[in-house]
Amino acid sequence: MEKFRLADIEENNTIKNQIQRGFREQNPFGSEGFREENKIYLDLTYMFKTPGKNSIRIKDVELLIPDVIKAHQMLKNNEGNIFDGNIPMTGWQNLPLEITEEHIRDIKAVTSELSGKIDAFVSLGIGGSYLGIEATFRALTHGYFNQLSRKQRGDTPEIYFLGQNMDPDYFRDTLDMLEGKRIAINVISKSGTTTETAIAFRILRNLLEKSCFNNANQMILATTDKEKGILRKMSDEMGYKSFVIPDDIGGRFSVLTDVGLVGLAMANIDIEEFVAGFRNMREITLTDEFWQNPSLIHAALRYAAWRAGKKIEVIATNAKSLYSVARWMEQLFPESEGHEGHGMWVSPSFYSEKLHANGQMIQQGERNIIETFLMLCEHDNRIQIPREKVDSDGLNFLSDRGLDMGFINKNVVEGPAYAHFQGGIPNMTIKIPKRNAFNLGQIYYMMEKSVAISGYLLGHNPFIQPGVEAYKKAMFALIGKPGFEDQAQSMETNLKQIKRIKI
Ligand code: PA5
Repeated sequence: MEKFRLADIEENNTIKNQIQRGFREQNPFGSEGFREENKIYLDLTYMFKTPGKNSIRIKDVELLIPDVIKAHQMLKNNEGNIFDGNIPMTGWQNLPLEITEEHIRDIKAVTSELSGKIDAFVSLGIGGSYLGIEATFRALTHGYFNQLSRKQRGDTPEIYFLGQNMDPDYFRDTLDMLEGKRIAINVISKSGTTTETAIAFRILRNLLEKSCFNNANQMILATTDKEKGILRKMSDEMGYKSFVIPDDIGGRFSVLTDVGLVGLAMANIDIEEFVAGFRNMREITLTDEFWQNPSLIHAALRYAAWRAGKKIEVIATNAKSLYSVARWMEQLFPESEGHEGHGMWVSPSFYSEKLHANGQMIQQGERNIIETFLMLCEHDNRIQIPREKVDSDGLNFLSDRGLDMGFINKNVVEGPAYAHFQGGIPNMTIKIPKRNAFNLGQIYYMMEKSVAISGYLLGHNPFIQPGVEAYKKAMFALIGKPGFEDQAQSMETNLKQIKRIKI
């Protein structure tokens, strides 16, 4: 049997970019031209006056402008319901300006030294200590990263993520991938007490100690709070190289802190460019001119939609690379907005795949949905559609007109946007020009500010997540964690009154 060959398919630009990033001498992202090329647009063509009931009118949004501007000013002045204890949780606002070149150099020095000694890097964390790193990594790297050669990965180790669940099979499968490799771990937890992360850390630390004898501690990085948590104490005692998560930045706002920067530098992602994207969007979203400020517009549209009875936001993308960014938004918005009976359920979706699943519901189901498209305008690669002598599938019209897969993929947004609007679903498209770290930084900052404004509009603190504690307490009580005896007792009493239904 002959081997499958890529014949006349061009070189993969995602790999090319990944390799070249390490050698770039000049930063192009400071220039006006670069910023212009990477401008993120909001397309609101299909947002207003959808056919049928519960539509959103532009007037509804205009009426919100004074409240939105007031919220924006309060946010900029660190005022309002934004405190966790006595700390205003708005450190992310100016963080893009506070990251120094020296700090970036230090991170890169650590990761490049470690990188040369290892074959695989395992990032441990959950929620805000995981999603942003994974999203950025998936957005910018090859879809089968760990299966590429080290050279194709831009001379980086393989990258794995653990500590986001307690599934022993998944854990075991990941261990198989690490077998026989030289590994390093980055354990990320602001509190230091998150069970999923702590258990994953304990297991890997144990295996590392058995494999590396004396130098296991040098293969462990810890990213945690400055002084309070258990992980900080442990890290100081064991001499792990450690990084700090600032007190005034919550997990889901922390992708630009060392939480994200260390893992991204390890994956050869351009962290200067990432910071530059945050800086650029910070500057863009400073204005109180509502229609010039994408964060304010985004927040007001979503709030107007919620008030019009929209309970679900489908965040759909036409790029596999951006699907994890939708997942990052799935955390940022519900964890910040789902308080006191508020908020929309966020459903991340990759189109066209999901159009053959929830597409029917969006078109004709209950009209309680809005849709936000994250549209990648320019893919890394062009895939031509071959012409055939006998046009049995009727697709020669594409090759005859020189239309490639990317062209069709644009219409994987344009088509549903039109059809879903006709079906009564308001939708907006966020146009992301290209896959690069700058654009990721821009999107993250835009969304962080949007959700902060949303907190003011909804009237609750978006920077805390007391609801997440409830599951933790119940789980700790059930697994018999010391200190949770009272909770276990009260659960036992309550459970006696609840009839178990087993069929
Ligand atoms: O946004 C948040 O604050 C949370 O999602 C946390 O990031 C998550 O619970 C993990 O917490 P920690 O970093 O303390 O382990």
